[in-house]
Amino acid sequence: MKKLKIAEGIYMFTMNVEDILFEGIWEIANGVTLNSYVVQGEKTAIIDGVIGWDGVTENLYKSLEEIGVDPKNIDYLIVNHMEPDHSGWISNFRNIKDDFIIICTEKAARMVKSFYDEDKIRIVKEGDILELGKGMILSFHPVPNVHWPDTMYTYEKSTKTLFSCDMFGAFGRMMDHCFDDELTPEEIDFFENEGMRYYSNVMATFTPSLRKAIEKAKTLEINTIAPGHGPVYRKNPQKIIDDYYRFSLYAEGAGKNEIAILWGSMYGMTAKAVDYVESILKRENVKYRKLKMPLESESEMITTVFKSAGIIIAAPTYEYKLFPPIAAALNELGRKKITGKVAFRFGSYGWSGGAEKELHEIIERNKMKWDLIESVEFEGAPREEDLAKIEKGVLELIKKMKEKIVG
Ligand code: FEO
Repeated sequence: MKKLKIAEGIYMFTMNVEDILFEGIWEIANGVTLNSYVVQGEKTAIIDGVIGWDGVTENLYKSLEEIGVDPKNIDYLIVNHMEPDHSGWISNFRNIKDDFIIICTEKAARMVKSFYDEDKIRIVKEGDILELGKGMILSFHPVPNVHWPDTMYTYEKSTKTLFSCDMFGAFGRMMDHCFDDELTPEEIDFFENEGMRYYSNVMATFTPSLRKAIEKAKTLEINTIAPGHGPVYRKNPQKIIDDYYRFSLYAEGAGKNEIAILWGSMYGMTAKAVDYVESILKRENVKYRKLKMPLESESEMITTVFKSAGIIIAAPTYEYKLFPPIAAALNELGRKKITGKVAFRFGSYGWSGGAEKELHEIIERNKMKWDLIESVEFEGAPREEDLAKIEKGVLELIKKMKEKIVG
């Protein structure tokens, strides 16, 4: 666990977590950080405790002592969001100290009680204030559904620091550089990608609420954004606000000037057409990324589709329906409310179609509002005339996606 000074009286504690499935689902190839913050006046508050795994809490206590904070002198535990990656050590902390107060929203209080059986709780509402002394004043600002209904921002007035929890967060381990002004150009790209992975995997379902949270952040004068995951933004906090706004557009159909090819093939017939499509995209100088299902991780699949302005779905009919790994991927994209994408599908069938019908059912059922260019289906292997139709569809996609390109 690293400890870093953010301002006089404010410290960050951060640790890399790897080799887990985040939320029990997401493969995080590049890990994730869990960030906690300590704010010291005459009283001491800790914002977003870390996960309660063996060894982690002991590491936290040791780190606190190294900056001169006896864990037994912590007065307030501020729970911006009850999800256990931010609150998991409450029970462990209660074992060593009995008289701290938990500060959280009403919705979080209910979960803090049900998950940890805690009742020494002070419920806060919009604009409520906690004075810690020595000029440190915290205010609280609920941002529901970022990403659970319980979430709030905590803001320290004297330093203009926003503790934003999941909002403005990113996956990705942090090595030596934890502040935006320290990041190399490669690390800036890395955290932008990991930010998109975090947004699309964890937060995309709640995009309308995230937009409201962006608006709320704009009402505060901010020098520093200190999120629960990923780097701290002290040089240019506006960058991550702008990035998150752009990500919210990606969730609603915009994207980079890239195509995601979501594809699967049983015996190589649809794959032949995918090879042909690659040659067209190379000729047209369009960046693309292939996602072979079911081999690709769900995390990578969602991130890539999320950030792409154009989508190609290449999938055969299987048992009168859409090739199941592609159907599952599209359903997951629907659950994440990735809407408004421009897409083109082609695929092979043996003795009967059916894939096309299920594709439309999935898009309808999930209210995805994807703009589907007329599909091309072929019996068995693709013939020249099929490939010509596919080329026409791809060129139409390239044309239509131009209106969707942002960033
Ligand atoms: Fe970082 Fe919603 O938990």
